[in-house]
Amino acid sequence: MRNLENNAGRCPGFSKCEQATHRCGKHCKTGTPNDAPPCWPDPTSAPYSAVRSDLEKQGYARFNLRNLKSDYAGALTKLRQAASEMPIDRTDGGAGRARLYGRFHLHPWAEIGSDLHPEPARHHEFNGQFGLEYTQPAAVNSVAGGKRRVFKTFDEQLYDNILLRDLIRNLFRSVPFDPDVKAGIFVVGVHLIKLSPTGACNAVASPDLVHRDGEPFTAGILIERINAKGGFNAITHTRWHDHRFDDVANKDVYDIFTLETPLEGYIVADSRVAHYVSPVASADPHLHSERTILLVDFTPSRPMIDMSGIA
Ligand SMILES: [Fe+2]
Repeated sequence: MRNLENNAGRCPGFSKCEQATHRCGKHCKTGTPNDAPPCWPDPTSAPYSAVRSDLEKQGYARFNLRNLKSDYAGALTKLRQAASEMPIDRTDGGAGRARLYGRFHLHPWAEIGSDLHPEPARHHEFNGQFGLEYTQPAAVNSVAGGKRRVFKTFDEQLYDNILLRDLIRNLFRSVPFDPDVKAGIFVVGVHLIKLSPTGACNAVASPDLVHRDGEPFTAGILIERINAKGGFNAITHTRWHDHRFDDVANKDVYDIFTLETPLEGYIVADSRVAHYVSPVASADPHLHSERTILLVDFTPSRPMIDMSGIA
């Protein structure tokens, strides 16, 4: 019988691992602390320290990276530059919306630099477009109605953006998952979305309804806000999924806020809350107006099996 037992045990060099101030992932390193490779961020570091507890307590969290702004000034400029050149999103008839969509495959056990792998864009025969497909079921996004959507992707320079990569790593450390699930590969969707009203014509999000996304966690961080009016975020009870925000009962609105300054952000647990962003109007219709946000979502590669219907 002994051969059939689980012989898992400490890996060689475990004691040395314990001495290291930075251990990466679940794999022990056999080197001394001084040999420790670059590591993932400390999940208890500001400004993310409250994110996990707020997510566990209330199903959403807000955070602000403005104190780190100088570290990310160059990265922020590059994201804004990319946003200024993005194609208009015409996939579901929405007005004044431009976007890029990218996708990483996250290997949590790997060292920084080997942890995030962008998925290559490809040619899609069904519509002849080159990019990455992002299709949501009609039950999740009734406005897009389950239509297959292909978006232009991030280029290599944008995938390497340090603000984007640090945000992914820090938020990943903060999202609550079963530890074994969290040790495996994750799919990380990244959307750069600009709502840009023109004149009296508002720009609207997709969907322009209270909704859930279908990914377990989604974060948003403000990249730019110029001459914009509206575009507030609301967090509500899940029962209001697919409803107009005006119809939501006041008691079911958990939070309303407007991301005003770049690097303000929020994250939602899709199983716990629904969310909404209101249309964006121009404060001065004669001037350029935009609200640009970077969205990051996390989905484990391991299938999440729904056992709720099994007696
Ligand atoms: Fe959403």
